[in-house]
Amino acid sequence: MSRNMTPTDQSECYLNGTFQALAQCQVSVLDRGFIFGDGVYEVIPVYGRRVFRADEHLARLARSLGAVGIKNPGQASDWLALVRELIARNEPDDQCVYIQVTRGVARRDHAFPQGVEPTVFMMSFPFPHIPEQKRAEGVACITAPDLRWRNGHIKSISLLGNVLARQLSAENDATETILIRDGLLTEASASNVWVVRNGRLAAPLRDHDKLEGIRVGLLQELCGVVGITLEFRPIAEWELRCADEILLTSATKEVLPVTTLDGQAVSQGEPGPVAAALYKAYQEVKIRQSR
Ligand code: PDD
Repeated sequence: MSRNMTPTDQSECYLNGTFQALAQCQVSVLDRGFIFGDGVYEVIPVYGRRVFRADEHLARLARSLGAVGIKNPGQASDWLALVRELIARNEPDDQCVYIQVTRGVARRDHAFPQGVEPTVFMMSFPFPHIPEQKRAEGVACITAPDLRWRNGHIKSISLLGNVLARQLSAENDATETILIRDGLLTEASASNVWVVRNGRLAAPLRDHDKLEGIRVGLLQELCGVVGITLEFRPIAEWELRCADEILLTSATKEVLPVTTLDGQAVSQGEPGPVAAALYKAYQEVKIRQSR
């Protein structure tokens, strides 16, 4: 499996009703996605050509569209049919499907344009499997203030705050930047963050400051299966710094242990048992539940 996340020019995409090669896809510079970052997106994992947690991803897409007042161009069943066709037209068995819907093409004016159709774009890229050695060692993260807007629950394409946060970790040879607002953990630049202390797993409260990852509900289910106590509660910055384990979750990271935070070892600096148990359970359900 290629680790290259970039779709090739020949990979098949979907744009406004037509499947075509990525190199052929063109959008007007007046698209409000380009001009204002006015749109929403999804990243959906695909294993063995089958879609994982499709209903949850498509429901979140509908919620994001509703939250920003863009008409949902399709029903969940229409979306699923398109996603499946895109998967069939692309090479690898394990893929990630990216869906982006913007408010469409219009003369530049901040207020919503009337009578404009949303732009719908979908592409697939090879699933960026994390190398075994990296999983076994765990990854490094840094922390930074969360300077993003207060509607992090919307999966908006306006990601400049996330991009700047992620760049900080890239410049520090770290995998993620974990964000702190008012002394509390929110999430990371493109992942949710979990903390283990005294054998209990904790996740930050579900609120508008952060995205409710599809893996949040999933890990809640898996905790029930493997017998881990989970609580949703405010998590103070200091708790991160004396955590027994820190975990990242996202569509592409699945469940990934953090072993270094701001250059300090997390506990003994090795992945812990909660991360291992949840990763194992994740591997089992991802095969069973993809459809
Ligand atoms: N990002 N929080 C943020 C800010 C994210 O961007 C993501 C995912 C998550 C985890 O959500 P999920 O479990 O649904 O993937 C949390 C995707 C993968 C991305 O932007 O590429």
